[in-house]
Amino acid sequence: MDKIVIEGGRALRGSVAASGAKNAALPILIATIVAPGEHRIANVPYLADVSSTLSLLGRIGCPSLAEEGSKLMRVDTSRVAFSEAPYDVVRKMRASVLVLGPLLARMGHAKVSLPGGCAIGTRPIDQHLKGLEALGCTFKLEGGYVYGRTEGLRGAEMTLDMPTVTGTENIVSAAVLADGTTVIHNAAKEPEVVDLCRFLVALGARIEGAGTDTIVIEGVPRLAPPARPYRICPDRIETGTYLCAAAATGGDVTVTDTDPTLLGAVLDKLRATGCTVETTASTIRVAANGPLRGIDVTTEPYPGFPTDMQAQLMTVACLAEGESRFCETIFENRFMHAAELLRMGARIEIHGNTATVHGNGKLVGSPVMASDLRASAALVVAGLAAQGTTDVLRIYHLDRGYEDMVGKLQKLGGNVSRGEEGGKKGASAA
Ligand code: EPU
Repeated sequence: MDKIVIEGGRALRGSVAASGAKNAALPILIATIVAPGEHRIANVPYLADVSSTLSLLGRIGCPSLAEEGSKLMRVDTSRVAFSEAPYDVVRKMRASVLVLGPLLARMGHAKVSLPGGCAIGTRPIDQHLKGLEALGCTFKLEGGYVYGRTEGLRGAEMTLDMPTVTGTENIVSAAVLADGTTVIHNAAKEPEVVDLCRFLVALGARIEGAGTDTIVIEGVPRLAPPARPYRICPDRIETGTYLCAAAATGGDVTVTDTDPTLLGAVLDKLRATGCTVETTASTIRVAANGPLRGIDVTTEPYPGFPTDMQAQLMTVACLAEGESRFCETIFENRFMHAAELLRMGARIEIHGNTATVHGNGKLVGSPVMASDLRASAALVVAGLAAQGTTDVLRIYHLDRGYEDMVGKLQKLGGNVSRGEEGGKKGASAA
C-alpha cells in the first residue's frame, strides 16, 4: 500500500489548476445511460472513483475510451447489456448506487448491491428508493441487493425528508424519461446536482429549478448525446483543500480554472481566519497574514459550509491561535481525522457532533492513518504545516478523489513524495 511522505514547515506558494469535480463526473458519466449513443465528456478528472465508474459502465456493456493526452472521455451507451451493479464494485464506491435511476429509466429493471455504511456514517438510501417508488418503481431487498422494476415511469410530486445529493441525482436521472411532470421538493442544491441537470438538459431533458430546493422535470420520450462534448464543472472541494493548505502553511496560493461562486461559505471562513482572499471569475488567491484566528463552522447543505471541507478547515483551526468550534450536521461520524490530528499535537475535544479545537499555532509531524477521503486530505494539509516528517498511510482514499495531489503540491513547493508503507522514504512523485 502506498503512503505520502511530507517534510513539513514550508509555506506553499504559486498557482495550481483545479481539476474537474469528482462528484459531478460520477453522476454525469453514469447518466450517459439514459441517452443511447456515443458521449464525449470533457474535464474528467483522473481518479480511482472515475476508473471504478467506467469499469461499472463496462460491466453493463457500455465501453469507454479516454482520448490520449486529454481529459476527454468517450462513453458508448448505444447498447446496455446488463442492469446490475455488483457488490465488488459498489463496495469500492458507494456512488455506484447512482446507476439505479438511469437503469430503471432505460431498461425497466436494475439490480444494485446495497452500499452499506462507511467510515463517515450509516448512509442509507431510503430517500432514493422513496423517490423512485413515487415514479412507479417497485423494489425488493434480497441477499444484500436491491432489485428494482418498473412497467413505465410516470411523473410524480414528492418531498424528500432531507436534501440528499445522490438521492436527488438518482431521481432526476430517472424522471427525465418519465411520462409527465415530476416535482422534487426539498431537493439538493449542490453545484454538482446543477451540473448533472445541465448535462441532462444538453441531452434534451426539460428541467427547471436546478440549484433551488424545487426541481421540476418534464419527462420526454427519448434523449440523445449532444453534438459538443460536455465539460464537467471545477472541483470546489479540491479547490478549497489547496486554499486550506495555503492558510495552514502561512503561504500564498492561487487556484486557477475554478469557480469562486461555488465556494462562498468556505472563502468566508478563510477570511475569518485572517487570510487575504482575492477572486477573479476563474481564480481564487488565499494568502496568510501572520497568525490565524479561531473560527466557528457548522456544516450545512449547499450553500452552507460543506461537510466535505470540515476536516481540512479543522487542520487550519489547529494552526490558529485561539479556540474554534466545528459542528457537523450532515454525517454522524465525520470526526475521524481529529484523533489523528491529536497525534500531531493538536488539542481537540469532541462532544456529540461538536468538536472544539484549542489552536496553539503548531503541529508536529508523525505517522497518521487516513480513514476517508476528506480526512486524508486534512492530514496531508496538517503534514505540510507540521514541523518534521509526516507519513500519511492508506492514501488509496486520496487517489479516489484528488487528481495528482502529490504533483500539484510539489508545484506549490511542498516537500511531498509517494512511497510504500513499510518502505523507508517516499519514492517518485508520479
Ligand atoms: N441520507 C439518508 N437517506 C438517504 C440519503 C441520505 O438518511 O436516502 C442521509 C445521509 O446518511 C446523510 C445525509 O442524508 O446523513 C446527506 O447525505 P447525502 O445523500 O446528501 O450524501 P451522498 O449523496 O451520499 C454526496 C457526496 C459526498 C458528500 C455528501 C454531502 C457524492 C458521490 N458524494 O454523498 O461526498 O459528503 O453528498 O454533501 O456526490 C466525498 O466526496 O468525500 C463525499 C463523501
